[in-house]
Amino acid sequence: MIALGVLASGRGSNLQAIIDACEAGRLDARPAVVISDNPRAQALERAARHGVPAVVVERRASKSRDDYERVIVASLREHAVDLVCLAGYRRLVGRVLLDAFPWRVMNIHPALLPSFPGLEAQRQALEYGVKVAGCTVHFVDEGADSGPVILQKPVPVLEGDDVESLSERILEQEHQVYPEAIALYAAGRLKVAGRRVHILGEGKEPWPDVH
Ligand code: GRF
Repeated sequence: MIALGVLASGRGSNLQAIIDACEAGRLDARPAVVISDNPRAQALERAARHGVPAVVVERRASKSRDDYERVIVASLREHAVDLVCLAGYRRLVGRVLLDAFPWRVMNIHPALLPSFPGLEAQRQALEYGVKVAGCTVHFVDEGADSGPVILQKPVPVLEGDDVESLSERILEQEHQVYPEAIALYAAGRLKVAGRRVHILGEGKEPWPDVH
């Protein structure tokens, strides 16, 4: 069973979905630590409620981003983390963290990348006028939402949608697809080759609802 370190800055609903999947046995993993750069993050309360160690690492307590990430890496190592999951973590990840966990940092983004990276992806999608929005789980590299794609789920944009209603429907899909991606990793089925993430065994035993 792999140990997960979750980095979250806010509400933590994706963290909750990951914890729930672990507790339900749908995911052969355990949440080993939750780390937040925001002492007021609701994610910290969620962790505490489930007996998961919750750690606050404030950016302003470190002189540089590298120093800040060294503190995070130390905490992840202390909890013997195998895979780092960004779940609403509102910072760009740098070399220190990426080098400590090569191709072992994942993120979820509320758009079908490479469309609409960065902040307010759902608003960007609505303003652009796309008919299909969605979410993406990807491995993290140094760019903003630019790493190799693991799984994506489409979400149709409906007549009358606003940012709130679209975000809500995308979020429902996020809560399914993130645990699925982590489960694939936990089963040793993800192989990164350049920009492509191959899913080993795909075609023989596809995940339900993954195309
Ligand atoms: C989600 O929409 C996620 O895709 C994005 O930030 C939001 C975090 O929500 N990266 P939550 O904190 O998991 O509820």
